Amino acid sequence: MRKVIHYKTRSHWLLVLRSQNLHSKMAAIDATSGYDRVKEVKEFDESKIGVKGLSDAGITSIPQFFVHDPKTLSDLKPSSKYTAATLPTIDLSDINSVTHRAKIVEQINLAAKTWGFFQVINHGVPVSVLDETLKAVKAFHDQPHEVKAKYYKREEGKGVMYASNNDLYRTKAASWHDSLQVWMGPQRSEAEEIPEMCRNEVVAWDFHATKVGETVMELLSEGLGLEAGKFKELTFSDARVIVGHCYPYCPQPDLTVGITSHTDPGIVTVLLQNHVPGLQVRHQNEWVDVKPVPGGLVINIGDLLQIISNGEYKSVQHRVLANSWKESRISIVMFLNQGKWKEDGYCGPLPELLSSEKPPVYRNFTVQEYVENFYSKGLDSKSLIEKITIKKHN
Ligand code: OGA
Ligand code: NI
Repeated sequence: MRKVIHYKTRSHWLLVLRSQNLHSKMAAIDATSGYDRVKEVKEFDESKIGVKGLSDAGITSIPQFFVHDPKTLSDLKPSSKYTAATLPTIDLSDINSVTHRAKIVEQINLAAKTWGFFQVINHGVPVSVLDETLKAVKAFHDQPHEVKAKYYKREEGKGVMYASNNDLYRTKAASWHDSLQVWMGPQRSEAEEIPEMCRNEVVAWDFHATKVGETVMELLSEGLGLEAGKFKELTFSDARVIVGHCYPYCPQPDLTVGITSHTDPGIVTVLLQNHVPGLQVRHQNEWVDVKPVPGGLVINIGDLLQIISNGEYKSVQHRVLANSWKESRISIVMFLNQGKWKEDGYCGPLPELLSSEKPPVYRNFTVQEYVENFYSKGLDSKSLIEKITIKKHN
């Protein structure tokens, strides 16, 4: 039986109609500065419809609060196929053979220093698990918005949160994606809290993605000349959140983005994506497309690891273009972050990595500074790193 999508409530259509007319209407109101952005954002949020709902309803123009500034828009290009470099791909097979391991550590070290991003293949997660995870998260987002509405909320830090744009109230311009977030640590969501549609798959994904994350952390740790188990000991994989993003078809991909250019705040990110393109990484002043490699996982370094490694490893800007394909782009991101902070509440470059030749590049900072910095604005690039960089005096 064909699924009937019950989105035609009165308030829903009012919203859709408003979106359709927004440009012409708002252009006029804007001239007199009458555009009430806060009200529009709030109405969208309270409708719990998400961008998937707007897209399903067949809107042909996007609400104004999704439109980004001219500077961002002028730069929205796929990378040039002549100049774009390709993200390093690292083969993790034979990771336990001594000669192979040394080579892999070297490759990962170089990729983390120069790109801050790489793809891993032969990581040991069965292809069937990758497929099932993507399928289940897609199935969640494909449900009618009324069904998803019961999960729609904005309480971060534990449990399950489904919402459009996690930073909707903190950002200057919204982006064309919805997300289902599931916190897996330090406080682990109860299985029953996770939508049934993707419950088993999310729990299984936590197991597999954590394992890949920890394997990569071992290699990264060795790359810094530390013991393989050092990052685990420092609880770098204990605070975890899984974010199942949906980037539905966007009717005006030239006016918005899928996700704003940013760096990830934590230690390491593990990303699984379907075949619909859109992810781009900043490399040597160019945006480089990250072409989905079947069976591959994308790994990137977060701001915290850049700081802890005293600048050895780099967190790098990335973004997702608004999706112009009819099919939704699905990505499942696992953020791995430090679970336990030191007793004194401070964090900074690891003392083991410092010497008179390698003085600290960053000052220590508190957990509170880290959290406050994150929640004081929308997604952005390296704002904490900039704040704590020790300025050199000549
Ligand atoms: C993120 C992110 C990219 C993607 O969630 O931080 O960069 O492909 N996502 O969804
Ligand atoms: Ni990111």
